[in-house]
Amino acid sequence: MSAPKKPLVIGNWKMNLDFVEAVHLGQQIGVLLKNRPAEHTDVVVAPPFVDLRSVTSIVASERIAVTVAAQHVNPNENGAHTGEISVAMLQRLGVEWVLVGHSERRALYAMDDAIVAATLRAVVRSGLKVVLCVGEALDVREEGDQDEWVRRQLRAALEGLDERFGELVTVAYEPIWAIGTGLTATSAQVYEMMTHVRSVLAGLKLVDARVLYGGSVNAENAASLVAEGHVDGFLVGGASLKAESFLAIIGACDDCYALKR
Ligand code: PGA
Repeated sequence: MSAPKKPLVIGNWKMNLDFVEAVHLGQQIGVLLKNRPAEHTDVVVAPPFVDLRSVTSIVASERIAVTVAAQHVNPNENGAHTGEISVAMLQRLGVEWVLVGHSERRALYAMDDAIVAATLRAVVRSGLKVVLCVGEALDVREEGDQDEWVRRQLRAALEGLDERFGELVTVAYEPIWAIGTGLTATSAQVYEMMTHVRSVLAGLKLVDARVLYGGSVNAENAASLVAEGHVDGFLVGGASLKAESFLAIIGACDDCYALKR
């Protein structure tokens, strides 16, 4: 097996926390990270758009060891897209990452494969890093078609991507049936899917991409998922809204990586 990749833990705050609450959580994360630095793990938070400026400011002024992601972006450069935000706007705020194709965007906001592919390209062409989210619904899993489903989503988004952008790509496997439901995939299910995703990525010449798991990750299950599921980190929703549980998840990745090296 190839050398383990440096883990990455991303807190997806979704549509939670106004800018005052976001600054507070950012500061709490900062204090905990100073007490127990995540030496081997990259830490990212993805606040709502309206919190980005406050969070990037607090991260810079208090030297908090996290970088900042946006949860979504519009692929167009500018123009008549009421309610949308461009990649350049994010860049000006010091945002370094963008989540693309989260299942909630796909399901609720008509983000189809073509829009996912266009968005992903707009992000990496600007030099920002992308976290491509993929994952199957429960009925697909029950039919046993999850590998084919995820392969199709990965190819639709990444096929033909210029290899020079490879280092900007991270994939998050998030089975829809595990998101916000308290139902976590088992370590064995995660391990199988990690292996599958990595082999599809190898076929796309993206061997360096980190592959994360997301879906009801919490302080209790993170250690076994990272050790037995062979993930390169996590995309965390609910448990990232409390500094203590977010830090416990980061700590699990950090400890596991330190042991494996
Ligand atoms: P959850 O969300 O951890 O609350 O299940 C994960 C996600 O949607 O990224």
